[in-house]
Amino acid sequence: MQSADFDLDMRLLSASAIALCAISLSIVWRVISSHRNNAFKEDIAVDDNWIIQRLNLPETFEFHRYRMKVREQEDMRRKGVVLMQKYLDVSTPLATINKSEGNVTLPPSSEQMSAHVPSFRHLNTEETQFLVLGLATKFDDIIPVLNDMRRWLSRTRTRLLILVTDKTCFVREREAVDKVYARAAELEIRVELFPYTVPEETDFTREWGFVDRLFSEAVNEPKAKWVGIIEEETFFVSLPQLMDTLTQFDHTKPLYLGQLSESWSRVTHEGMKACGGAGVFVSVPLLAAALGELDMCNAFEKGLNHVRWRDCIYNITDPRVRLTQVEGLNQLDFRGDLSGWYEAGHEKLLSLHHWKSRHSHPVPAAHMVTDIAGPDSFLERYIWPADRVILTNGYSIVKYPMGVPDIRTPELTMVEDGSTEKAPDWKEFHHSLGSTRPALEIGVEKVSWKFVNAWKDRKGNVRQFYVRYGAGDGEKASVIEIDWVA
Ligand SMILES: *[C@@H]1O[C@H](CO)[C@@H](O)[C@H](O)[C@H]1NC(C)=O
Ligand SMILES: *[C@@H]1O[C@H](CO)[C@@H](O)[C@H](O)[C@H]1NC(C)=O
Ligand SMILES: *[C@@H]1O[C@H](CO)[C@@H](O)[C@H](O)[C@H]1NC(C)=O
Repeated sequence: MQSADFDLDMRLLSASAIALCAISLSIVWRVISSHRNNAFKEDIAVDDNWIIQRLNLPETFEFHRYRMKVREQEDMRRKGVVLMQKYLDVSTPLATINKSEGNVTLPPSSEQMSAHVPSFRHLNTEETQFLVLGLATKFDDIIPVLNDMRRWLSRTRTRLLILVTDKTCFVREREAVDKVYARAAELEIRVELFPYTVPEETDFTREWGFVDRLFSEAVNEPKAKWVGIIEEETFFVSLPQLMDTLTQFDHTKPLYLGQLSESWSRVTHEGMKACGGAGVFVSVPLLAAALGELDMCNAFEKGLNHVRWRDCIYNITDPRVRLTQVEGLNQLDFRGDLSGWYEAGHEKLLSLHHWKSRHSHPVPAAHMVTDIAGPDSFLERYIWPADRVILTNGYSIVKYPMGVPDIRTPELTMVEDGSTEKAPDWKEFHHSLGSTRPALEIGVEKVSWKFVNAWKDRKGNVRQFYVRYGAGDGEKASVIEIDWVA
């Protein structure tokens, strides 16, 4: 196979009916190099009362507050756990707050701790111009998806192409389409919408509907190195870090990168395929090869997500291209209590998925802390051994009253997505998580405050709120605020 058969795209483009139906818009993209003090207005808290209203708390609750001074360190890397000085004492609240007493002010914390984080000043968005992302979704879902993706996509140079699966033409939808483009411009996301000209209800590999457009965008200037296929809930922790990882592979060769499901039952059922939600990456030469055999690939299985990509790639390449697994991409094919996964202390973390369908965690809000503490602080664990307390940044604060368990292995709290009734077999997550430890008894061995929301103050500091709503047996609700300050 030739690595570049680039005149192919001209043929495909001219044959395409899409051009007649699409609305072309010229948007001038502002390039912003640093946005640390340039928060979106919806991220900024109005005042303490406004915050309390949004946390859904009962009339009275206990309140704790800790201040973490962020200290960037050049020689530090993301690790399984960071040892903390001082204390995080969850047994003695700073105050008890009664909402009915009117204008409430949350008391300030008296102590400040240092949180050491890997330096993130060197991360730049330059390389993100070499990635083109493709997503297929319904028209009404686009703005919510962009709102979620702004955390990682806005102010980068990556282009997002969206195939709108429930519109065959935009000409009569001009106003609604303009609205999407206006929102994307506001969020500083580079989006282009394409109507879906050949809708098929059972097609779960919908992005095939614009594989030619993905290719022609990829060979436009700047020429992309990678085309990424994603889904509505795909959440990248940092595009610059993702590009650092992709750069380790040779984009001039035909390559298929991604990650398997965490669930062995799924792998045995669906085979060795890259899961779409975790992010699938194909190099441009491989995409060119797929386009060359489009008719053949169109005939392959379309009833299972992303199987057609695999079948096409495995069947048309010579020598055969196989899936290269990339550590840090996560499909999250779990259900139930995912604390075992979130609290596992990830040493490499590139993507998350299913955070608002198969499980529920406010990942975009949890990720806000990265604006001030960098991407390697997200889901990093901080331990106060004497207090038997671990903060998993953006997920939970856990007290282990009977002692901290062996946190080198993940706690098996979750179940396999397809068989939620029974506890997973010991081999179920073996290939993805390694060995696990049994789940602790909630409320006895493990007492958790869950991350609920976060906002910025006017200086750009991030205020996170971890809440324990109370067990219902007279236990008071309890809130721990962690302030990350520059
Ligand atoms: C909260 O304050 C209101 C108004 O002062 C008072 O009526 C109520 O009893 C207080 N609640 C508790 C649990 O102290
Ligand atoms: C609430 O208290 C704050 C500070 O104590 C004050 O600035 C603010 O004006 C008060 N708001 C109302 C509605 O009384
Ligand atoms: C892929 O190619 C193999 C032979 O290499 C063939 O047996 C198989 O049917 C092909 N798969 C599909 C889905 O056509």
